[in-house]
Amino acid sequence: MCHTGSVMSRMVPENVERLVPYSPGKPIEELERELGIKNAVKLASNENPRGPSPRAIEAMREAAAGVNRYPDAASWNLRSELAAHHGISMEEIVMGNGSNELIDLICRTYAGPSDHAVIGVPSFVCYHLGLTSANVPFDAVPLREHLFWDLPAMAAKVNERTRLLFVANPNNPTGAHVGREALTALLRDLPEHVLVVLDEAYVEFADAEDYVSALELRDLREQLIVLRTFSKAYGLAANRVGYAIGRPEVVSYLHRTRAPFNVGSIAQAAARAALKDQAHVAEYVELNRTERARVTAALTELGVRVAPSQANFVFVDFARDNKEVYDRMLRMGVIIRPMPKPVDTWLRVTIGLPEENDRFLGAARELLA
Ligand SMILES: Cc1ncc(COP(=O)(O)O)c(C=O)c1O
Repeated sequence: MCHTGSVMSRMVPENVERLVPYSPGKPIEELERELGIKNAVKLASNENPRGPSPRAIEAMREAAAGVNRYPDAASWNLRSELAAHHGISMEEIVMGNGSNELIDLICRTYAGPSDHAVIGVPSFVCYHLGLTSANVPFDAVPLREHLFWDLPAMAAKVNERTRLLFVANPNNPTGAHVGREALTALLRDLPEHVLVVLDEAYVEFADAEDYVSALELRDLREQLIVLRTFSKAYGLAANRVGYAIGRPEVVSYLHRTRAPFNVGSIAQAAARAALKDQAHVAEYVELNRTERARVTAALTELGVRVAPSQANFVFVDFARDNKEVYDRMLRMGVIIRPMPKPVDTWLRVTIGLPEENDRFLGAARELLA
């Protein structure tokens, strides 16, 4: 007799049993083979479609020869260059294996099963995963119309046990941002025992007049961590480099819980070179700005609702089962991202190169015809 299921369920704590593995989708080559299509375009993971800076590629080549040595465990050069870039000290920066690792570390460093956290929904799935993994109870507060942050409603869920509150600004998957006024009120008014995590993975793409990075509002709150990444605007997603910024007495705890060599040497070298090539970032941000506006206008003309986006993707309501939309688009060679309830008629579409966006818009026209 096979009792594997019941044996396995006793092997891990209940919170781990509740976790569902992140589903990244199949590799593009496999999908092309299975569906018998060619030249599929991948607009599913909010990646930089132009690629990294040529300087970063060169730096990776050079660093490759030294991989017999462990990387610099403190990411000394990268942290000091980032500190200069942001006009802060390197003690205020902790590097992570992608900002994803930092989210995970933050959950288990600052909170435990007897604490509490607040997140929004829909938002980045890794807050939910990180908190569940660390067995931290949390409230998931609905965004207004499923699209727009409702910070007062999140603040209302804070109680004396609340240690963490996560806000992605701009948000994934909706693309919405929090304006200066609402962010100021949140950072100023929350009780001191709440560590606010402002995830700014898409900060470079935000151009709304009232958008402000929490880095400009740091004086309002000691208990604040700002997350940044090299995965989006810098085009280094595969390298896994992100960082946390906060007061030394706050972020230094992450050095206790992180693994010693959590960022590889090739990744560090690439990030350093990419940071120096701000012109490459600026070109992509500009392309994203014009293409985001073009894709939004074209979809609106087709009669579908597009949420206003401050990021490198748009969130689109096809007003029908999004799995069906996903499947049909896939067969037309366009890979986009359906979202679970409560937004299961919406799909997130990364802004690609102009020709990739044309492929998506062509597929959308055919689907809606
Ligand atoms: C809001 C948000 N935060 C963090 C990340 C993770 O980025 P990283 O590649 O740095 O782990 C993503 C990636 O999609 C994201 O959308």
